[in-house]
Amino acid sequence: MPVISSSACAKLILLGEHAVVYGEPALAIPFSGLRVRCVVEPWINGPAGTMHIRARELQLNQPLQALPEDNFLRKAVELVLAELGVFQTPTCKLAIYSDIPISAGLGASAAIAVATMRALSAFLGHPLEKETLNRLAFETEKLMHGNPSGIDNTVIVYEQPILFRKGEPIEFVYPSINLHFLIADSGIKKATAESVAYLAQQRERDPQSVEAAIAEIGKISLLGKKAFEQGDLIALGEAMDADQALLAQLDLSCEALDELIIAARQAGALGAKLTGGGKGGNMLALVTPETQEAVRKALLSAGAVRVYQTDLKEVQDHD
Ligand code: MEV
Repeated sequence: MPVISSSACAKLILLGEHAVVYGEPALAIPFSGLRVRCVVEPWINGPAGTMHIRARELQLNQPLQALPEDNFLRKAVELVLAELGVFQTPTCKLAIYSDIPISAGLGASAAIAVATMRALSAFLGHPLEKETLNRLAFETEKLMHGNPSGIDNTVIVYEQPILFRKGEPIEFVYPSINLHFLIADSGIKKATAESVAYLAQQRERDPQSVEAAIAEIGKISLLGKKAFEQGDLIALGEAMDADQALLAQLDLSCEALDELIIAARQAGALGAKLTGGGKGGNMLALVTPETQEAVRKALLSAGAVRVYQTDLKEVQDHD
């Protein structure tokens, strides 16, 4: 059997996180420069039917079977084997190398699951189609997040900007001009499951105002989608700011994120907001080639532990 290497990208939610869990539309883009890579190779003379997993970022160096039954990686492997009708775990080694920080709002868990399932299915001679991969990755997300919308696995599997709405066909969206973003890490780790559960509690306590904010976020996502497609940077930035105001109102931001967001805006970002689960993790700023350096410096001065950059290229012709 050959040595197989596969990868998957990180993701950024441009607009609509959390509201998407409640059926509202959200806009997500791939972060192709930040990736997870998986390598599967035969384990010559390894114990038959044993897969050894090594993943430094997850502090794993052990046989798959030694992981708890509800571990998302174990589930990812089992789902692939079941999908392909393989009854014995192949005798192999799986190595995972991730540049995506964990619990930081960038989709690390979904990307690890997707890259693993891509590599393993190719190793077994049957690379999974995107649709199947997406369906299986969603199952692993349920273990990680409890009540995921499915947006993370979808944007990561297709690696294209999408407008996502639960239960509806995926809508691909195309920017009509180049877009430039900076992403800054607050350094605070926060599992998405926690912030999703927090909002669910808030919603039980005060359904009226939480549901109104959620519906408003949905409208902003649609306005932002239009601006994204029309290349209207001002309107897109305004949508990001308006979204952030509602996320902060829902208590999903935090002081460190707020400081980064204010610093980015003051340095010339057209819009800035948290991205992903919030209450820590990363924020996202819409910049131009002219403002990029000033915003980067301002983010670092405001305490960002890391600043990333990603660009989306204009797409003129598409189906
Ligand atoms: C996490 O990237 C986005 C959330 O909306 C959760 C989800 O949609 O599953 C917070």
